[in-house]
Amino acid sequence: MKLIIDTDPGVDDAIAIALAHALPQIDLVGLTTVFGNTFVAQSSRNARYLADMLGADVPVAQGAALPWGAESYVPSANVHGPEGFGEIDVVPEIGRNIDETAAEFLVRMAREHKGELVVCAIGPLTNIADALKLDPEFAQNLGQLVIMGGAFEAPGNITPHAEANIYHDAAAADFVFASGLSLIMVGLNATLQTLLTPEEFAELGQASQKVGGFLEKISHFYLSFYRSVGITEGCPMHDALAVLACVFPEKFTLVEAGLRVPVDGDDLGATLKDDSRPKVQIAMGVEAAWATGLMKQSISAL
Ligand code: RIB
Ligand code: CA
Repeated sequence: MKLIIDTDPGVDDAIAIALAHALPQIDLVGLTTVFGNTFVAQSSRNARYLADMLGADVPVAQGAALPWGAESYVPSANVHGPEGFGEIDVVPEIGRNIDETAAEFLVRMAREHKGELVVCAIGPLTNIADALKLDPEFAQNLGQLVIMGGAFEAPGNITPHAEANIYHDAAAADFVFASGLSLIMVGLNATLQTLLTPEEFAELGQASQKVGGFLEKISHFYLSFYRSVGITEGCPMHDALAVLACVFPEKFTLVEAGLRVPVDGDDLGATLKDDSRPKVQIAMGVEAAWATGLMKQSISAL
């Protein structure tokens, strides 16, 4: 399958991009970048760095720097680190972004691969919403959107009600859920079942010196953040699980519901059931050992 990952790398984004590169079922045809874990320029730099490390010849198209309607945005560096890669404080600029914006690239690729292209959005949904606005046929042209985001009838991780990707651009997310796109939401309901331990990162580093070793290196900061919020067993695989849902949706327990996202108030950024909205598929669970096992097996071979 032809896949574009829309990303804010980001420690777990890095695992997701490495996994996509490793899976034989995926032809990674592009990375589009967005603000979120990092400023968007850092997201683009990090995406190009990862592509170079993987030896993946994929274009990087830079997208939104701000949430819809916002005049500023500052990442919370305490989760993924000041440069988005944990303790690493210098990430070299390798190559350059393509001239198209993320939305332009997404629209063009969906049109060129009508009904076939899959997009895996693992950051705020601003670029996806921008693409829907740029081309009214984007929703029909795109084969499938899979997102890491949301928490369906479950607590959030950035507020008691909201998951971070949805929270960071609630208006864009609400627009996407109203669009009628074929959509699988892989939210905290599933991703909190797939924790990665320090020992598992060490195994990755042993098995795959360059890629696994890099992921182990950037995991330390991220693991310590999760320990600081009481999740001591490990860090959630989050974004990589969304990549697995692109290829193996049958491994997930899926329910269908229409969703809306409040754009203000206490439940800003929540993903609430709304029967007036087009149905989307929501991952409520996954075979966790299968998921973490396949991720480790795939990346260990890089
Ligand atoms: O809530 C988890 C999500 O927020 C992940 O995509 C992580 O990378 C951050 O962007
Ligand atoms: Ca992310």
